Amino acid sequence: MDKLVIKGGVPLSGELRVQGAKNAVLPILAATVLADGECVIHNAPRLRDVNKTDLVLTRLGCSVKREGNTIFVEPTAECACSICEELMREMRSSIIFLGAIISRCGRASVGMPGGCSIGLRPIDLHLKGLRALGVDITEERGYINCTAKRLRGADIHLDFPSVGATENIMLASVYADGETYISNAAREPEIADLAELLNRMGARISGAGTGLIKIEGVKKRLCGAEYTVMPDRIAAATYLAAAAATGGDLLLTGARPDHMEAMLHVLRDMGADVCAHGGSIRLKAPKRLRGIHTLRTMPYPGFPTDIQSPFMAAASLAEGTSVFTETIFENRFQHVDELVRMGADIKVVGRSAVVQGVKRLSGARIVARELRGGAALVIAALAAEGESEITGTEYIDRGYEEIERCISECGGIIKRVSE
Ligand code: EPZ
Repeated sequence: MDKLVIKGGVPLSGELRVQGAKNAVLPILAATVLADGECVIHNAPRLRDVNKTDLVLTRLGCSVKREGNTIFVEPTAECACSICEELMREMRSSIIFLGAIISRCGRASVGMPGGCSIGLRPIDLHLKGLRALGVDITEERGYINCTAKRLRGADIHLDFPSVGATENIMLASVYADGETYISNAAREPEIADLAELLNRMGARISGAGTGLIKIEGVKKRLCGAEYTVMPDRIAAATYLAAAAATGGDLLLTGARPDHMEAMLHVLRDMGADVCAHGGSIRLKAPKRLRGIHTLRTMPYPGFPTDIQSPFMAAASLAEGTSVFTETIFENRFQHVDELVRMGADIKVVGRSAVVQGVKRLSGARIVARELRGGAALVIAALAAEGESEITGTEYIDRGYEEIERCISECGGIIKRVSE
């Protein structure tokens, strides 16, 4: 496996174009299963998770071709309607195909997605929504088997604004008889991106991005469409945190600051000078960041859980105390031990982590155990004194496109070494 070797202490400065959003392109690729014709998806980031999703599409009988950051997908007539458990275990977020396969084939059989290191990741809200649409679901021998003679519109209330459940219900209801309403829907921008593509394909979805989404079932089969994926707000904020932690001066282009309000406010509260204009965000770091007092992860538009660990890495060197409370996932502090190994002063108490800022971190051999925690270790290594070696790069590569190129282009000293 690879490792990243980073020499810390160099401010991250320069200009960086924001990659396409991982959490938008995955459901968007699932939606292409519904098209009677070719979909052309631009700004698709080159990531392990996207490669795995391309594999799922291929296994479902679609022809998939990638040219740079554009993916061409064309379903064939005989679309398969099952995803084996090995593939589901490899990438649990393939559960997002369930709604699309049911819409296309009237049935689906997928391996149980299981949990991952950050939490159990139940799918009860997905299944509750599908049952409300008239899907019969049995769970046996590790598979979820769905059949639907007729999909009928329904009023569905989500107990929690689940991103995946919102997306699966949208995908499953595009052809349902009548109207479907999703209340307490997730409001993440990635939902609106998915709805925009589906509407271009001929679906009739309104309210995406708000807590109440309406899907009017259509009779006409959806057609192919061309679409450009939104920028990745989490990757963007990760690089801003890296610039903030290293005393840098970074200009992001191709960003959507309106998707990042909560995160930009926190960076300003920490003392960074952040200026957003059109698709650009410029961050000038202070000599030393200030602690963030208390910070709770919340569903959008609150502070995103995905940026908790990268911001904790930056807070580790801030003046004063920062208390992070993780309300979304039950095990999202795996990066803490590794940051402590570098000299951070962090204590986990239940769902909260209390960070006492220290003056310096020291480079060390550290291990990434999940995607965003791995990004946090990269930030800490860039800000630390001396050299760090980070293993577990396969997690980081799930969500950050060419991370060593991006960091090197902004002056960071980083290289990827095959172990
Ligand atoms: C999406 O996961 C993202 N992944 C996650 O990003 C992100 O952290 C999460 O939304 C929250 O914003 C993709 O979009 C591929 P949820 P998802 O359903 O859809 C509970 C990253 O690092 N829940 O909103 O799985 C669940 O246990 C990844 O890029 C149920 O209880 O998130 C969790 O506590 C990590 N029952 C909470 O809701 C359900 O049926 C949020 O889950 C579904 C979810």
